[in-house]
Amino acid sequence: MKQVITTLSLILLLLNISNGYEKLYISFTPYESSDCLGIPSGIGYGGLIDTCFSFDNSRNWLFKYIGEDHISFTPYENKGGVSELCEIESNSTQTEVINDCIPANDITFNSFYQPLYPKFEIYYHVQVGKGKPFIPEDSYVISHNYGNCDGDGDYGDIIFYETFSNQTQLNIPIFGSISEFYCLDGIPMTMTCKNDGSNCFNPQNQALVCDFVTPFFNTTGSDMSSSDSLFSINTYCS
Ligand SMILES: *[C@@H]1O[C@H](CO)[C@@H](O)[C@H](O)[C@H]1NC(C)=O
Ligand SMILES: *[C@@H]1O[C@H](CO)[C@@H](O)[C@H](O)[C@H]1NC(C)=O
Ligand SMILES: *[C@@H]1O[C@H](CO)[C@@H](O)[C@H](O)[C@H]1NC(C)=O
Repeated sequence: MKQVITTLSLILLLLNISNGYEKLYISFTPYESSDCLGIPSGIGYGGLIDTCFSFDNSRNWLFKYIGEDHISFTPYENKGGVSELCEIESNSTQTEVINDCIPANDITFNSFYQPLYPKFEIYYHVQVGKGKPFIPEDSYVISHNYGNCDGDGDYGDIIFYETFSNQTQLNIPIFGSISEFYCLDGIPMTMTCKNDGSNCFNPQNQALVCDFVTPFFNTTGSDMSSSDSLFSINTYCS
């Protein structure tokens, strides 16, 4: 019996230790219903905790797991540089309970994307993933990853990402266009038209695998050093 207990506590100890190293992700999965039930609809966002990153290069975000089933997220000023810090808060920290369904319309993660129908309410299911984020199925995904992409579909670890449910239509004012994001036989595609719906281009295959980029985020955690590693963008269908 004693042996069993000792083995058990060793396993528990090992579990605790490995959990300690497991990366935590906060995911904001979009829904049309205020109970976050049904099929995800709209644009979802997520990223690693304790890491400063930007979805749109106009403000930075720091996500935190604050224990007791709570997370927080804080926007910071973005100075338009290559290595950004989360130093000067641009709006107050929002704290939420994990698994809650929260109104999304006041939270702007990516200011480039304007909804086509602004009155439409969207809600986020707030989730925390251990080791990997909650990415909805059948979605168009843009992820920014850390790692060296050494083949076999290994994109390295996700740092932050955006997801689009199938056939999400957006107004993207800086391009003066409306785009639809969709997945066709597992290939991420966009269809882009002028603001007034005219002049549509042929659908474009947007698949990207390990396209290396200069990072515009800065890790505040000690387990990732941003100087000597590679970062990539991947666009795919989940
Ligand atoms: C990231 O931020 C730290 C300060 O927290 C700074 O010392 C370091 O140079 C930054 N890294 C990069 C790649 O800019
Ligand atoms: C700051 O937060 C409030 C409340 O969440 C929101 O209504 C407002 O739009 C935010 N301001 C900016 C500049 O993001
Ligand atoms: C997504 O939409 C496209 C057309 O817009 C359709 O052909 C495709 O089957 C849809 N994919 C899924 C997974 O529903």
